[in-house]
Amino acid sequence: MTPEFAGNQIIIEVLYLIASVLFILSLKWMSSPTSARHGIWAGEAGMLLAICGTLLHHGIVDYRLLAIALVLGTIIGIPLGRVAMTAVPQRTALSHAFGALCVTLVGSAEFYLQTPHISPFLMSVLSVEVILGGLTITGSLMAAGKLQEILPQRPMTYKGQNVVNFLLLAVALVIAVYLVLHPDARNLFPFMILIALAFGVLLIIPIGGADMPTVISLLNGYAGLSAAAMGFVLDSKLLIIAGALDGSSGLILSIIMSKAMNRSFSNVLFGAFGQVQTSAAAGKEERPVRSATAEEAAAILAAANKVVVVPGYGMAVAQAQHKVRELFDSLSKRGVDVRFAIHPVAGRMPGHMNVLLAEADIPYDRLIEMDEINGDFAQTDVALVIGANDVTNPAARSDTTSPIYGMPILDVDKAHTVMVIKRSMSPGFAGIDNPLYYLDNNLMLFGDAKAFVGSIVRELGGGHG
Ligand code: TAP
Repeated sequence: MTPEFAGNQIIIEVLYLIASVLFILSLKWMSSPTSARHGIWAGEAGMLLAICGTLLHHGIVDYRLLAIALVLGTIIGIPLGRVAMTAVPQRTALSHAFGALCVTLVGSAEFYLQTPHISPFLMSVLSVEVILGGLTITGSLMAAGKLQEILPQRPMTYKGQNVVNFLLLAVALVIAVYLVLHPDARNLFPFMILIALAFGVLLIIPIGGADMPTVISLLNGYAGLSAAAMGFVLDSKLLIIAGALDGSSGLILSIIMSKAMNRSFSNVLFGAFGQVQTSAAAGKEERPVRSATAEEAAAILAAANKVVVVPGYGMAVAQAQHKVRELFDSLSKRGVDVRFAIHPVAGRMPGHMNVLLAEADIPYDRLIEMDEINGDFAQTDVALVIGANDVTNPAARSDTTSPIYGMPILDVDKAHTVMVIKRSMSPGFAGIDNPLYYLDNNLMLFGDAKAFVGSIVRELGGGHG
């Protein structure tokens, strides 16, 4: 080993070590809105150091191809980063597909470089790498397509679907075991990848569009685990650490999301949720509700001491967060105590409400998590629900027959007055009626969230028109 080579090795190891620490800090900081920005910077800095370390690697023989890849990646990456907030889940799914494609290609190259002289351990992790990578490529593309509505959102099911899927996966695993025992059977390798690719498609077909965020988080976990497996194949500790962090955080996040929706993993993956309930809601008889105008709503809010705003998916769709900020300013100026109740699965992606409200510069200390604020609703004058539905549905507490029974909800019905901004009596994600709307203390404010909040702000005498 030349002194120059040894020096390079030390620099690479140090860069990788710092990158690993930054990745860990990044995840820690991203768990709270106050430190989330630091988390993003730490993650970006860590990735930059990891790339710099890799560029110093002695195995690189020609930098020209890398430069072309860097330019291409930048050209594709910049527009991908500029999507609307509501399109972030599908955008994330595309990133997973790219990551998984990379893992699968590297795994395939290593297979042909290292076989037939490959240890059973390395062949096992290589198989895990390409099977998880392959199914994540097509699974993520399907998930992105469903969310972007390029593909039909509804679950597509047929009899014996799960059996077919598992048989297919079993065939891929049998090939993997055969390759571990006979690494010279190189012709079988492409079949293993093809089956994994097909499995990814079939896995997503029976899942409804609205369940995609949970599935994307799960696919994130798979992509991370396949990257960790690649770390073993390439003997890279950094990849093992980064992949394990990515894999475990993706899996933990999907467990948190499933729990907050009171669903089991298997129900998300095989439940075809959203289909049955929507048709059940369609047959509902009409019951009377009380509604109010923006003028009346403004008067009620102005007379209140304590207001809790409950944002939901409708606020995101309407992009009403900036108007909500104006409402917050206007009421705060009048001395009203305004806080925001954040349900863990309000909207369609983790942290959806936090991100939107942070974008509108609502102070972080005004955003209160569900468990913390639920006890305060009884002392709240007005709970103003903006485009939220399921996360406020009291049936989840009391109706054992409800599909969302057991899901933790925001107890808005306990407030003195509840006002709900939404366009119609249509159900939310779960496709079910909300008994909240028929309660005596509830007023419906029918309209688009952005327009209605804007009207209230005007009535209160604030805002920018
Ligand atoms: P939903 O229950 O989906 O209700 C959203 C409501 O917004 C709808 O009832 C809709 O009623 C209204 N709306 C839509 N566009 C609007 C607009 N432009 N202006 C005003 N209102 C509008 O939302 P939620 O309460 O936030 O609950 C989230 C649901 O998604 C939960 O069931 C959760 O389990 C599920 N989910 C969440 C996630 C994550 S991670 N957040 C992931 C997957 C699934 P109208 O049509 O009458 O306006």
